[in-house]
Amino acid sequence: MLAKNRQVVMRKIPEGFPSANDFEIITVEMPELGIGQMLLKTRWLTLDPYMRSGFMNEPNNRQSPIIGGTVSEVVESRSDRWRVGDLVVGYYGWQEYAVGSESDVQWSNPDMPNEKWDESLGPASTALGILGMTGYTAYQGLLNVAKVKADETVVVSAASGAVGQVVGQLAKIKRAQVIGIAGGPEKCAYCIDELGFDACIDYKGSRFVNELQQAATQGIDIYFENVGGDVLEAVIPLLNPGARVPICGFISHYNLMPTERRPTPLERLKSAGLPVLDKDGSREGFRFFSFSELAAQHPDAENALCEMSGWIKDGRLKYRESITSGIESCIPAFMGMLSGKNFGKTMVRL
Ligand SMILES: NC(=O)c1ccc[n+]([C@@H]2O[C@H](COP(=O)([O-])OP(=O)(O)OC[C@H]3O[C@@H](n4cnc5c(N)ncnc54)[C@H](OP(=O)(O)O)[C@@H]3O)[C@@H](O)[C@H]2O)c1
Repeated sequence: MLAKNRQVVMRKIPEGFPSANDFEIITVEMPELGIGQMLLKTRWLTLDPYMRSGFMNEPNNRQSPIIGGTVSEVVESRSDRWRVGDLVVGYYGWQEYAVGSESDVQWSNPDMPNEKWDESLGPASTALGILGMTGYTAYQGLLNVAKVKADETVVVSAASGAVGQVVGQLAKIKRAQVIGIAGGPEKCAYCIDELGFDACIDYKGSRFVNELQQAATQGIDIYFENVGGDVLEAVIPLLNPGARVPICGFISHYNLMPTERRPTPLERLKSAGLPVLDKDGSREGFRFFSFSELAAQHPDAENALCEMSGWIKDGRLKYRESITSGIESCIPAFMGMLSGKNFGKTMVRL
């Protein structure tokens, strides 16, 4: 007998910053397993900013569980490939159970089949964070898009968050100077004292612009863009000629009403007369990149994960997760992450 399943769906499209009323938890029956299928019990799910800027704005997505990366345990199997007890890294979203098929892929990307999590790399939660989408984004964005070099000055925003904490530490491993930008003294102290950044500036402080200027005495060679808005405005005058700006995201825009729309970082940098990167990344400048684009372009993801797993094991790469428990916690934890209440990668344990 299959279990009942609880899912988080959108009750309506959020207007501006999401509220609890925009979400709903529903209970559905699980279908019987067909041949080649397995029943998956979600063990971990990840909450990420892109869900707000994409999935939640699309009316057709109402009544489907909110999508996102998951680590699930196979609890019943009619598949020769998947055995009971296997941990499946998939894309089953905000729900307690899912029926999986052998052909299922992550990220709706046909080049990314579901994977069995190799626990020798790290704990299962890391499959969705530092050894998953956010860590891989940091790794490829800094090393293959921005192509960081020793002694360059790297500035990263949302610095204590899932992507930012990895970017800053990888830049230190590559012997660059690292300045983080984060919200509040506690997060900034963490970036310096625990993660080894050279400086970290609180963008909520009244002296943010001056402090950033004072920290970046040599100008900025790479700005790893995670937030957009006023933080980008403070960075632009400090960019050195030939600076690279990998545009990873711009979270300060995601909850704006249409009437409040600001130029995206790409639009803003172009209007400031900065150069655009060629499609192959061969010229210096700035560009937007997406995780699934990187995954398709760099099929060496496994090497990246092994390298980062090695750095974690030898203590050069640390990670912090912001964990809540239970499907109900997805809603407050997601809203909290959008407003900076998370401290590290936002994860839900089920
Ligand atoms: N291109 C890709 O494929 C890709 C992949 C992953 C993530 N991303 C992007 O990377 C960025 C970071 O994502 P993440 O998963 O690492 O999230 P995260 O940093 O773990 O969490 C989001 C953080 O954003 C900060 N924030 C929220 N509102 C802000 C505002 N108005 N101004 C400045 N900072 C604000 C908060 O940190 P503070 O407390 O420091 O304010 C919050 O903790 C997002 O823009 C996301 O869309 C892109």
